Order: sequence, then structure tokens, then C-alpha cells
Amino acid sequence: MPAWLKNSVFYEVYPQSFLDTNSDGIGDLCGITIKLDYIKDLGCNAVWINPIFDSPFMDAGYDVRDYKKIAARYGSMSDFEKLLEEAHKRDMKIIIDLVPGHTSDTHEWFLESKKADKNEYTDRYIFTNSTWEAPPEYKLVCGMCERDGNYMVNFFSSQPALNYGFHNITHPSWQKSPDDCECIKTVDAMKDIMRFWLDKGVDGFRVDMADSLVKNDDEKIATAKIWRGIRQMFDEDYKDRVLISEWSDPMKAIVNSGFHADFYLDHPHNGYHYLFRNGRGEENKSFFADHAKGNIKDFLNDYIPAYECSKNKGYISFITNNHDMPRAPFYMSDDIIKLSHAFMMTMPGVPFIYYGDEIGMRYIENLKSKEGGYSRTGARTPMQWNSEKNLGFSDADSDMLYLPIDKSEDAPTVLCQQGVSSSIYENLKAVIALRRQYPELSNDSEFEVVYAKENEYPFVYKRGEFIIFVNPSDDKKTLNFASNGKSEIYSIGKYEMTSSSVTIGDRSFLIIR
Ligand code: NOJ
Repeated sequence: MPAWLKNSVFYEVYPQSFLDTNSDGIGDLCGITIKLDYIKDLGCNAVWINPIFDSPFMDAGYDVRDYKKIAARYGSMSDFEKLLEEAHKRDMKIIIDLVPGHTSDTHEWFLESKKADKNEYTDRYIFTNSTWEAPPEYKLVCGMCERDGNYMVNFFSSQPALNYGFHNITHPSWQKSPDDCECIKTVDAMKDIMRFWLDKGVDGFRVDMADSLVKNDDEKIATAKIWRGIRQMFDEDYKDRVLISEWSDPMKAIVNSGFHADFYLDHPHNGYHYLFRNGRGEENKSFFADHAKGNIKDFLNDYIPAYECSKNKGYISFITNNHDMPRAPFYMSDDIIKLSHAFMMTMPGVPFIYYGDEIGMRYIENLKSKEGGYSRTGARTPMQWNSEKNLGFSDADSDMLYLPIDKSEDAPTVLCQQGVSSSIYENLKAVIALRRQYPELSNDSEFEVVYAKENEYPFVYKRGEFIIFVNPSDDKKTLNFASNGKSEIYSIGKYEMTSSSVTIGDRSFLIIR
């Protein structure tokens, strides 16, 4: 396990929306380099950058046309090398996206694969044997190739699935075993791409749809075997680099596959959902909500088994949000966001902050879909730096921007929140600083539940000598608690402490030691 992961807090940069330095309306690599000090000052020491590779952008870059080429709109390879160098100078890490499950349908491999004549790439993707063969259980694109066959896709129709084989073979005439040499060639091609970037000095990968490699593999047995092989390559040749999975199943991702960390994403009925995304407005049943009426047990029933099985092997990554879901203000007010940040920054694991979440940037509703964003588009709007033109994101005319900026008069900006102690920004910065300052709050120190009752508030947990109380509800709560001379380390809202009780105010948070 790379030691640096133990104290890392990540910042996710959606490159097209972060900072535009050449006035073309789209963010770029130089913009990220310029803002490294900003990211570091917030307390983050690692950055994940969404795909920056050559692409037709049917899925905002998750449709890769050339894995080894930087998309011209973000700059050049030397801009990327400069970014790495500047990050490393500051003792910061850079991880990039790896999209191993599919390519763009304009990738050279696919252009070859769809040809009628057999060639080196014929089996790089999954094709049925005839255009008339289209079993309904598979997501296939039919009648689009010179080759007589239909191809399987992983996500959108423009993203053909790479061929890592089938665990359960139901159609032997076109489904291969993961051990088939053609499937092994796909793994080798992916390893070659990884080596290319690792040799340049990237500190690891966030792996897109990491569970999607081998098909008909419900228990992910064959998929995990491939990842263990890749982890072995890391252990042998790139010991200090990391693999972080988009999977949200620590047992399969961390324990079985060897990922160093796995994202906790909003999935139906999982703990993340019950904490933050369980409905809106009056219907919001999340633990973190206005007039909160959630059930902490719904979170714990999911989280604790995952935490227990993976805790000495890898990290569960809480995210403030990401580029795939509406931002927090769509669900909760600023007060509750602050509590949720304080909670996430005091839980175990490797936390990720999505750009703009540090100022409570809003989800912009009803935007026209951009590059396959659809409902996700409103979470991808330009970063709001200050009150200047385009809120400091770009000098370009506003109709040239990648996406419109938040036009509301009170759109939050970095400049208006910095130095304001009640702001989301200063609150988040303060709790990150605590996490970095105290070993008890670091990513792998012990976590224990102290008080968690069905449908009740607060939630109280322990990290080493630290006791943490979080109460998003509208009522103050008193717990019998022998404080034994403990005193405050950090608080939001109100609390009272006697020698035998702690009263934690409504919408409040407290750390004592
Ligand atoms: C997950 C990524 O986060 C998302 O943005 C993308 O569209 C899909 N995977 C497909 O690659």
C-alpha cells in the first residue's frame, strides 16, 4: 500500500470546466497547473483529473479514441508533463482516468475490428457471428458494420465493449473464455497503456467501470482475477502508485481485486444513498437533509460490513459528489452541506472533493445536454472563481463557454467565501486541516460507532481518542456521556457539555478529545 494514500485528500477536476487559460471557452491543463496552489491551500494533496485523452466527446471523453494522446482542447503532452512536474514539486499527486471497459467507436482498434476481413483487432471487441444474431440479453448495436455481426456496448452506443471474454459462456460460437489469447491481448494492451502513463510519472488511475471487464461474470470472479494481475504489476514495478475503482463494492473491488481504494457512490439502497441522496424536498429521507428524518442504521447496515472486510486492505472513498450526479445543494441547504462535509472529512477512507463543492456550487437544472451529459450536465458547469467575467472561469464570450456559468445573482464564488468563517469553503478547509493534523483522523485510523439508534439523531462515532457528534436534525439532543475532562477540538452550531452529558444542538457538529 503506497504510504502517501494514508494522508491524502483528493480533489476531482473536471478539466473542461475548471479554468480556461487560452480563452477558447473550455478549461485546459494549464488552468489546472495554475490552480495547484489553490487546491493545496484548500488542504488537498492529490488530484484526480477526468479523461483528457483524444476523443470525439460523445461521453465527455469517456469515449477514448487514442489512450496515449492528449485531446487538443486541453493542451499538449508537454502541458501535461508540466502539470505533473509542478504537482510533484508541491508534493502533490496526480491520478488520471483509465477507461478499460470500452473505447470510442472511432478508436483505431474498433475501425479495424469492424472490417469484414480478419485482422489483428478482429477479436478486440465482442461481435456476434451474424447480423441476424442479436440475443436480447446483451446490449448490441446491430447492422452498423461491414463485418457480419453485431457488437456489444458497455455504456452508450458509441462505446463498444472491449473483449475480456465471458465467465459463463452461453453462446460458444462468439463468446471467448477470459483465458483465450485474444482476451489476454486486451489485458496486455491495457497494461501497456498504464505503463505509458506510469512511466511518465502519473501517481495512479481512477478506473472507470472497473467491474465491467468480463461479461456474464455476476460474482466478478474473472474480472477480479484480471485486476489482481494488474495489481501485481503495480506491486512489482510501480509500488508507490494507486488504483482506485469506480465499483462501490469494497469486498469485490478491494478484497478480491486488489484496488487500493473504492468509491462510495450513490447506488440504490446503499449507505451513501441513505446518507445524502434519499429523495428531495418533503420527500427527502436522507440522514443529512433539512428537517432531517433519516435513519443512520440504513447507512451503517451497508457501511460497516464493507468497512470491516476491507479496512486493512484498502480504503472506502467518500465523495462530496462527482460529475455523474446532481450537486449537494439540489438536496440540502448550506447548513446541512457543512455538516455533511464535516462528517465525510472525519470518517475513515480516502475522501474526494468534487471541484466547486468547496463553495457549494449548485446543480443547474434544465441545461441542454452537453457531450452525453444529459441529467449530469448541470453538475459540470464552469468553476466559479470570482465576480469577474464568466465568474473568472474564462475570458471568452459567454456564448463560447463549454457550458453556461451559474447566472444566479448569489452564485457562490471562491473569492466571496474565502476568509468568511461561516462559509462552506472555510468550514471544509478547517475540517480537512484537522484531518491532516491529527493522526486519529487520518484515513486508516480506527473507527467505532458510539451511538446510533434506529430513526434517531445524533450519530456519534469515535476515531482514536476523538469523539464526534453529528446532528443534522431540527432538535437538540442530550446524551448521557461521561466527558472525563474532554474538550472541544472543533464545532459547528451549538453544544453544551457537563461532566455527565453532552447536548448537541440542532444542525450541529462537535469533535471532542
Ligand atoms: C462512469 C463515468 O463516471 C461516467 O461519466 C461515464 O459516462 C461512464 N462511466 C461511461 O464511461
